[in-house]
Amino acid sequence: MKKVEAIIRPSKLKAVQRGLKEADIPCITVIPVKGTGLQKTYSERYRGTEQSMILHSRVMIMCVVSDNHLDKCIEVIKENASENQVGDGKIFIYDVQDAIRLSTGVQGNEAIL
Ligand SMILES: Nc1ncnc2c1ncn2[C@@H]1O[C@H](COP(=O)(O)OP(=O)(O)OP(=O)(O)O)[C@@H](O)[C@H]1O
Ligand SMILES: [Mg+2]
Repeated sequence: MKKVEAIIRPSKLKAVQRGLKEADIPCITVIPVKGTGLQKTYSERYRGTEQSMILHSRVMIMCVVSDNHLDKCIEVIKENASENQVGDGKIFIYDVQDAIRLSTGVQGNEAIL
């Protein structure tokens, strides 16, 4: 099992969610976040704030998928979230030890579908 965290532009959320659903990955958690990546214009100022200190609104999509679904999940996010521009976001992937569905007590891969 893997946890995928994708930090993307809010405008891409609908397309990514649709793509994941079509790829049999319907279970996601979405969290509004603010953040900054590598900014190249260190000296510019916007309304008195140094450009590199501005926190941009992004959306974090979190999903836990079986190892079998991982490649497809990443492909869908890359296809739907990228404008091939700086600030598109990033994907982080983690190992997950286990999952438990509370309604049935089912554990493991069965619990995440
Ligand atoms: N290493 C990181 N750790 C945690 N969050 C990150 C990291 N890198 C990027 N982020 C998050 O992702 C968002 C988008 O990052 P962004 O795409 O600007 O990354 P970047 O490294 O600057 O690459 P790019 O050159 O594409 O702009 C950031 O606003 C931040 O919330
Ligand atoms: Mg950036």
